[in-house]
Amino acid sequence: MTTPPKSTSVLFVCLGNICRSPLAEGVFIHQAKERGIDAQFHVDSAGTGNWHAGDLADARMRETATRHGVHLPSRARQVTAADFTTFDHIIAMDESNRRDLISVGAPKAKVRLLLELDPQAAVREVPDPYYGGPEGFEEVFALVDSACKLLLSELAE
Ligand code: 4NP
Repeated sequence: MTTPPKSTSVLFVCLGNICRSPLAEGVFIHQAKERGIDAQFHVDSAGTGNWHAGDLADARMRETATRHGVHLPSRARQVTAADFTTFDHIIAMDESNRRDLISVGAPKAKVRLLLELDPQAAVREVPDPYYGGPEGFEEVFALVDSACKLLLSELAE
């Protein structure tokens, strides 16, 4: 049997690409694997900034993800103009990410906030956990996990 083509592409975007968006990438892939539909998706993440290009996700984010059974192998990279044609869905973690994406040419219609997908979320933006304590990473995990389930259901064929 041949492998079906990856028909839907999703790019998660935050500022540094070492906390929130690599988590969203890893969680989305994990959930898609659990549902046996990961072959349908091309999933990646990127940052609007380039300070951490080449780095693994922040150790605190990786530890939090590991506690929930999610592996985060991705390396940080900055978003590129090519991403705006390659990806069908560009999912920003906060309003400033969305504004920055649109200001460098991302088509408005492709860019959504992750938490727009989750009517139950208590907040509208995924908070940046980088300068805070460990509880911030758990909060980010819970927000991302719930919203990714809804995104996956929306995009699943
Ligand atoms: P992220 O968090 O956008 O969720 O990856 C950040 C990581 C690093 C920095 C800012 C945000 N930084 O300024 O280095």
